[in-house]
Amino acid sequence: MRQSSLVVVANRLPIDDSVAPDGACEWRRSPGGLVSALHPLLRHTPATWVGWAGGTGPAPALPDVDGVRMRSVPLDQDDLRDHYEGFANATLWPLYHDAVEQPQHHRRWWEAYQRVNQRFAEATADVAEPGGVVWVQDYHLQLVPGLLRALRPDLRIGFFLHAPFPPPELFMQLPRRAELLRGMLGADLVGFQRAQAAHNFAQLVTRVLELPATDRRIAVDDRVVRIGAFPVSIDTAEMAALAARPDVAARARRLRQDLGNPRKVILSVDRMDYTKGIEQRLKAYSELLASGQVTVRDTVLVQVAVPSRERVGQYQILRERVEREVGRINGEFGRVGEPAIHYLTQPFDRAELAALYRVADVMAVTPLRDGMNLVAKEYVAARVDDEGALLLSEFAGAAAELPEAYLVNPHDLEGLKLGLLTALHADPADVAERMRAMRAHLHRHDIRAWAGSYLSSLDEGGALVSRLTSTDGGATPPVVPRPPSRSTIAGGTPARTGRG
Ligand code: ADP
Ligand code: G6P
Repeated sequence: MRQSSLVVVANRLPIDDSVAPDGACEWRRSPGGLVSALHPLLRHTPATWVGWAGGTGPAPALPDVDGVRMRSVPLDQDDLRDHYEGFANATLWPLYHDAVEQPQHHRRWWEAYQRVNQRFAEATADVAEPGGVVWVQDYHLQLVPGLLRALRPDLRIGFFLHAPFPPPELFMQLPRRAELLRGMLGADLVGFQRAQAAHNFAQLVTRVLELPATDRRIAVDDRVVRIGAFPVSIDTAEMAALAARPDVAARARRLRQDLGNPRKVILSVDRMDYTKGIEQRLKAYSELLASGQVTVRDTVLVQVAVPSRERVGQYQILRERVEREVGRINGEFGRVGEPAIHYLTQPFDRAELAALYRVADVMAVTPLRDGMNLVAKEYVAARVDDEGALLLSEFAGAAAELPEAYLVNPHDLEGLKLGLLTALHADPADVAERMRAMRAHLHRHDIRAWAGSYLSSLDEGGALVSRLTSTDGGATPPVVPRPPSRSTIAGGTPARTGRG
């Protein structure tokens, strides 16, 4: 196996196998924030991506994707059930998202988590060149930095958590909390989406491991581990260019016609996940229809909800509930040829997503908790016409960077309804002013700025950063959160946005 100077390690590879209409197996880009962030960045870089290809059984041999070498790590049925669906997505994921669903604890899951993390560490040790840089991603692989350091002390190891990192009261529930923290401390740099998350981590390290820690540095044995906030972003210029394409603009016009030329289109695009606040949003919309403040003739809601983690019980229950509610709302308020909600569960290509963003007068992004939420950023980047109102949850990491959005607390049903109405009836001049400010922010703080900021910190003095960020001439300044919003809607006191 050829060795690489940059190795990205993430549970999921950026491609998924799927079955083409002619029955052949084909590979397509997998949906999800982590892949959306890293895929455009690594294109045409001599890097290796170590990850899982999505099935069970032996690891498939995969073609390079845009110059990036794919190294697949196999999961068998037990690993899938106990590592991916179990410890990663039924223990850590709900716990890290404010326990909006009950986290479950099983000893067998922890064993699988250790076993799979060890397998990822060994695969990475195999492909990283001497003194190379390894960037480990997300909550599935928190033990990899420590395991990899034991195998390959010559490497520079980074870890980045895309999910929120919870406050100590929640993290302390984990039976194996000390091992998880120690695993992350195997890295030279531990990155989070928010400064509050780095603070939570430092507090936990002090309390659980009794190590001297500040919000920037932790002394571990004879090493210093640095920690910090690096809010992830998108390829802003690419999304803007896509949205500006004449065929995409034409597709947006067609979509509007197909929707019956309503006065207003509200759009939501989510993975089908209980963190995304889909049920709360449907309830708010349904109450607005019931009170007559919104009518089906005037306004349509397009809800895209691509199925996710489909064998995990909490996700199955959510999908059933969402589909029942969509059926109820359409039955109660729809008319022949005029459904109240256009509900779509298909994956779309980037051009179709850009066209959807361009047709949306209001983009409702209202998660109960989200590490960042790239859909919100994609919408802003796509609105090259400076039109469109972004209704954004205070509990999405993106809210700290986009204070010009119409911010709402999705737990507050009345606030959510008012937020939707405010965005629907907003003055076009106000909408344009907010959108201009958000677009300018995202052009400065795009995916290359994120990678530049993180990797220059990890690879001090190395050549990696200028290679990865070469389209804008090298390293960019660190991304700093902007001041608090002036536009929180309803509910009185703004909610805490301080968790990771
Ligand atoms: P998460 O990280 O929880 O998946 P994000 O909003 O950060 O949420 O990222 C979701 C990513 O998945 C975005 O880049 C979005 O464009 C993509 N995505 C969501 N739904 C679809 C879909 N139906 N088809 C294709 N891509 C999708
Ligand atoms: C979020 C997580 C990613 C994950 C993605 C899709 O973005 O932070 O690590 O890959 O969701 O979820 P999935 O379970 O399909 O990989």
